[in-house]
Order: sequence, then C-alpha cells, then structure tokens
Amino acid sequence: MNVLVIGSGGREHAIVHKMKQDGIKKIYCAPGNAGIEELAACVPIKSDDVRGLVDFALEKKIYLTIVGPELSLQAGIVDAFTERGLTIFGPTRQAAMLETSKSFAKKLLKKYGIPTPQFEVFDTSADAIDYAGTISYPAVIKADGIAAGKGVIIAEDSSQAIAAIKDIMDNRVFGDAGKVVLIEEFMEGAESSYFVLSNERGFLPLGSARDYKRLRDHDDGPNTGGMGSISPSDKLTPELEEKVVKKIVYPLMEALEKEGIVYRGVLYAGLMIVDDEPYVLEFNARFGDPETQALLPRVEGEMVGILTDSAKGRMFSDRLSLRQDVSVCVVMASKGYPASPQTDNVIEGLKDAIGKDIFIFHAGTRNEKGIIKTAGGRVLGVTALGESMKAAREKAYRAIGSIVFEGSQFRSDIGL
Ligand SMILES: Nc1ncnc2c1ncn2[C@@H]1O[C@H](COP(=O)(O)OP(=O)(O)O)[C@@H](O)[C@H]1O
Ligand SMILES: [Mg+2]
Repeated sequence: MNVLVIGSGGREHAIVHKMKQDGIKKIYCAPGNAGIEELAACVPIKSDDVRGLVDFALEKKIYLTIVGPELSLQAGIVDAFTERGLTIFGPTRQAAMLETSKSFAKKLLKKYGIPTPQFEVFDTSADAIDYAGTISYPAVIKADGIAAGKGVIIAEDSSQAIAAIKDIMDNRVFGDAGKVVLIEEFMEGAESSYFVLSNERGFLPLGSARDYKRLRDHDDGPNTGGMGSISPSDKLTPELEEKVVKKIVYPLMEALEKEGIVYRGVLYAGLMIVDDEPYVLEFNARFGDPETQALLPRVEGEMVGILTDSAKGRMFSDRLSLRQDVSVCVVMASKGYPASPQTDNVIEGLKDAIGKDIFIFHAGTRNEKGIIKTAGGRVLGVTALGESMKAAREKAYRAIGSIVFEGSQFRSDIGL
C-alpha cells in the first residue's frame, strides 16, 4: 500500500509520521520538507498543481492521497482526483465552501438552528455601511472568502467598522474574498477547535485543540499562522464536548444530508464558548496547523483505514481512540516572522532534542547536502506528550533548549 501526502508544513510532517506508524511501506509527499524527507519520498510538485499531482498519483498507482493545505482544496484537487478514479481524503470544492465562504456556512447554520453569533450578509458596501451605523459595538466585520487569516476585523466603533468595510469591499484588499461582507455580533468567551472525520454515512469525533495565534507571550504582538497548540483544549471539558457533538455536529450532519452536500474529510469547527454554551465562529475544511501537530500524536492505533473510509464514503469501520496524555506543540519561527522571515540559517541540535514522546515536526526547513537550514517563517513544531500539561510543557521546552538557529522566536507560555 502506498500513500501520497500533499503539503510541506508541520501538519503534513505529523500526517506522514502517523502514516509511518501505521506501517505504510511507501509514503510520498509533495513537496515536503527536510524532516518529511526522512520518512517519505518527497517529490517537487506544488500543492496547487492539480494536474501534476493527478499525473503523479496515476503513475505511482497511489492508494490514498491525503490533502493538507486549503489551497489545494480550493484549487479543486479532490474533484480532479475523483474524476480520475483516485481515492483522496478531503472535501470537494463545493463541500469545502463551508470554509471558503463564511456566508455559505453561516446561512446553513442559521437555517438549521445551529448556535452561531448573529450576523447579516451584505453584497454592497453602501448597505453594509448603513447597517454599521445602527448596531452596538464591538462588532465583527468578516470578508466572506479566504483571506489568509486576515479577513476578520473586530471593530470597536462604527468608524472602524466603516473603514474595514471600505477596505474589504471597495479597495478589495483581500481580492475577490471581499465581494461579500458579514457583520457579526461580537461574542466574548473562550475559543477552542473541535475536529471530526466525516462522510455521508456518519462521523467520528477526533478531539479538540487550542491554538495560539499571536506572536508573543500573553497573546501580544501580531497575528501569525499559529505559534503553538495544545490538545485537548483546556477550555473544552468532557461535558462541553458532549454539547458540541449534540448541538453542533449532529445537527450539522443532518443539515448537510438535507442539503445534499457530501462532505468527506476533516471538519474542524472554530468555537467560542460563552456561559458554558458552544457557538460556531467558522468551519475549516482541513486539518489545522499547528493544531494537528498536537492532535495526531495522541491518536492511538491505525488511522489510514479510517481516512480511507472517509474518502470512499464507506461506513467507518473503526473508532478512533486518543491517548489520555495531553500534548503541547511549540512553534519555533524565523527571525522577522511573520512580516519578513529571514531564511537560510543553519539549524543545530535537532538530534539532541529527540526523546520519548517528543516529536520534532518540520515546517520551513530544507536539507542542503546534509545540513538542515531554515526555509520559511515557521520552522519547527516541537511537540511533546505528557501525563499533565506541566509534564508535556517541560519536555517540549527542554527539547527546544537544545535546538539552535539564528534569531529563532518561540512563545514560552504555550499550555500555561
Ligand atoms: N463573533 C465573534 N465574536 C468575537 N470574536 C470573533 C468572532 N468571530 C471571529 N472572532 C475572532 O476572530 C478570529 C478569526 O475569525 P474566524 O471566523 O475564525 O476567521 P478566520 O480564521 O478565517 O480569520 C477568531 O479566532 C476569533 O478570535
Ligand atoms: Mg479561524
């Protein structure tokens, strides 16, 4: 059996690592990185080169392809693979609209009574601006489409709201993602992510995680792709998790069925917990990064069969069980990240960092004649499992202590 993983980040390294644990003999990754290279054959095909990837999968008779980045989903990779009879884990372009169009997702939630902050949708800036003059603040302005995590603005007053609306809709700072805007009720609470694997026959809970978006400790500094994560989320008690399944996941599965949407893949709900009640802020149509780097090492037993079930639209043949241990993932980023990351620095101490229940997932790295160098903004995700958050933190930060590269940045408060 062979497997192809698409992407080049820490998330994909965690997926490849899991496939290795599952005993997959031949793993390919496109395009991969210096860490993935040690476990898989990396092929230099870009994540959104749909034709190149289809040709490669046909040539190598790939049994299962697993998609990492949303970019590939948006490029229609699942549709293209399926057309050629290839098995691929992930939603079609239409089903991925749960992520790629916030208005699509929110309208579905509203129609089926699934808890989500109140909202209005606008397709002209004049209407949005009129409405912005009538509401209370703070309020949340959201570009409808994918805006690299920058399309959501918390406006403190109407002038900020109007400025955001003009930027998004008139100046098109996020391109076509800003054709439509949502104005949403601001909800104050604790955020968590919840993951399920799904298809038209059912779903399997995959667990929870929490990510740390800001660059610096105590949620200071600019937003990033994510500077760390923990799993399970400390904000999602087992009782709350039950509520999430009952009030959000089940009704959503019913909604998808009624709407005739076949959703195969990971469905990841971004939640806000207010007074012990979960609300959906958004969906993502893929494994989150770095959440997946914390989550996957907790998965016990084989995963490839379950992913194949999801991809083929079969009943799930098995359940997923998670280790009781908690997981902490700390991202090490390049100097200058996120604005202008400096690359090409030598990374030392990787071998010394390895230990039991410690995983060094690579993101922006490359191998230059045996020397590992930085090659992107987020460089490594150092993940550790432990009996308690404290134990996991100690392990992760001890490992980080032995890894050295010029100007490295990481948060010291992940899991605190
Ligand atoms: N209704 C809301 N109330 C309060 N905060 C919100 C609300 N919607 C979004 N946010 C904040 O903005 C962040 C980004 O919003 P989200 O809908 O997840 O979009 P994206 O991840 O695509 O940028 C959330 O993680 C949350 O911190
Ligand atoms: Mg989000």
